[in-house]
Amino acid sequence: MMERTPEPELMDDPDQTKAYAAADFAEENQGFVDRFGEYFPDFSGGRVLDVGCGPADIPIRFAQRYATCHVLGVDASEPMIRLGQEAVQRAGLGERITLRCERFEAMAGANVFDAALSNSLLHHLPNPLQFWHKLRQLVKPGAPVLVMDLLRPDSREEAQAIVDRYAATEPDILRRDFYNSLMAAYTEDEVTSQLARMNLTRLLIDVIDDRHWVVGGTIY
Ligand SMILES: C[S@@+](CC[C@H](N)C(=O)[O-])C[C@H]1O[C@@H](n2cnc3c(N)ncnc32)[C@H](O)[C@@H]1O
Repeated sequence: MMERTPEPELMDDPDQTKAYAAADFAEENQGFVDRFGEYFPDFSGGRVLDVGCGPADIPIRFAQRYATCHVLGVDASEPMIRLGQEAVQRAGLGERITLRCERFEAMAGANVFDAALSNSLLHHLPNPLQFWHKLRQLVKPGAPVLVMDLLRPDSREEAQAIVDRYAATEPDILRRDFYNSLMAAYTEDEVTSQLARMNLTRLLIDVIDDRHWVVGGTIY
């Protein structure tokens, strides 16, 4: 197994954030929201948390699908939050989406949210157990949770092959970030062991394609 190579935790370089916000993640992000609907057909609305929301594409798609929810997106990168605010205003969803520039570790409160989402955050984190711990603290017992991220490939060559397969025509800055993110990602076994250590027995992991895992279920 190839060792994990961490990457910087926050995405706060202006060129990097601009390239990320301009990239087309429509299929992946809509797939994430659709999957939430498939996993949790009874969910209808409430207070929803998106951890590491980036430029807010998922909060927007989620709020468009669930007309009675309010989404709080949290990201510790100021430029990301600024781009997210612009996108929320363009979508006319300022009343139902709030974005906050904050490290999720610093969030106060307990049993606050009716659902939690997170896409493509975990690989940024040096201590993923803090993430699972915070999630448990913040959501109401029994709340649906959906977390997705990249899967670390077996080798540098495989990581490069994935970048070439899925991001051949993207700008260099995005291709570099994608490669670094694959190298920093956690494996299925690592995530399974994180969930076991936190005793999150109702969260199950599924590898959905050659580069992503999804964890879904409820937290009690
Ligand atoms: C790859 S982006 C994913 C953005 C978004 N979820 C998406 O799917 O497009 C990861 C984001 O997590 C943020 N982030 C990393 N560590 C964080 C932390 N400790 N607290 C809050 N945000 C964090 C980064 O600044 C970055 O914007």
